Amino acid sequence: MAGNGDEPAVSARGLSKSFGRLRALNDLSVDIPRGVTYCLLGPNGSGKTTFIRAIVGLLSLDGGDLRVLGEPVARVKEIYSRIGYMTQHKALYPDLTLQENMEFFAGLYGIERSESWRRITRLLEMVNLQEHRNRLAGDLSGGMYQRLSLACTLIHEPELLLLDEPTVGIDPRLRQTFWEYFDLLTRQGKTVLITTHLMDEAEKCKIVGYMRSGKMAAVGSPEEIKRLAGLRPCLELWLKELEKDAAQLRAEGYELQICKGVVQLRLESPEQIKRVLAEVTPLDMRLKEPTLEEAFLRLSEAS
Ligand SMILES: Nc1ncnc2c1ncn2[C@@H]1O[C@H](COP(=O)(O)OP(=O)(O)O)[C@@H](O)[C@H]1O
Ligand SMILES: [Mg+2]
Repeated sequence: MAGNGDEPAVSARGLSKSFGRLRALNDLSVDIPRGVTYCLLGPNGSGKTTFIRAIVGLLSLDGGDLRVLGEPVARVKEIYSRIGYMTQHKALYPDLTLQENMEFFAGLYGIERSESWRRITRLLEMVNLQEHRNRLAGDLSGGMYQRLSLACTLIHEPELLLLDEPTVGIDPRLRQTFWEYFDLLTRQGKTVLITTHLMDEAEKCKIVGYMRSGKMAAVGSPEEIKRLAGLRPCLELWLKELEKDAAQLRAEGYELQICKGVVQLRLESPEQIKRVLAEVTPLDMRLKEPTLEEAFLRLSEAS
């Protein structure tokens, strides 16, 4: 189809899906652009996995319009070779070795032998499992299994990667390696849609889609999400004449509180810093950005 490359990687309009009386997807609309890391964030049960399952066509929707890599979802099976999906559950062969599991997936996608060997070596290195090549997948620890799953998901170099909590049980150093790899993939124009409960990971994504009760409650860069949640940076001031200076700032209309002898002033814009410093001369100061975790808590309260 002409023009497919211009369409978002995933485009959803008014998706709905109920399980009995429970509305897992409730009029969900979102565009996931190509070439970005996109994080689906949200409390347990907010519909993240259901949405991903809908994208891979494993779920019959009650309503709505869903397009994946420019194709209607009804035809998504025809473009499986362009999609990589890592589920929250075990999906590999326990009685095959790591090498054999990867060869199996490479074979499914028709990757020729020398190329598949090259990719297997590179991916096993990326997930730091090269020494375990000949072990049975069933003998791996949870974190190692997770790493092998990711390697298998990447073997056919998919354009669209759907990763449902891929870093559960992975140590911080290796998570860092994963993220560097995801960045590399997006630089090649690939799209990484990922769910995680780790805020430092969400913070690394270009776009965060915050889901609540089966729909998108807030979408934007991590910074935009914080603003949407009503959070602002805070200027902390250590003042010599605490009460007097605080009173003066309040009189100027600044919103502030005093916590353990430190003035915490809510900033509406970065330019305000200069104006504050024209009023008072602090002994020390620090700019504190709100965290995504605070935004997450705010957004989950505001239902
Ligand atoms: N196959 C299913 N049958 C019944 N209920 C389901 C099924 N799949 C998901 N749900 C329910 O739908 C809601 C959304 O689930 P899910 O998409 O797994 O949430 P998340 O991944 O955000 O934690 C949950 O309340 C879950 O229990
Ligand atoms: Mg889930």
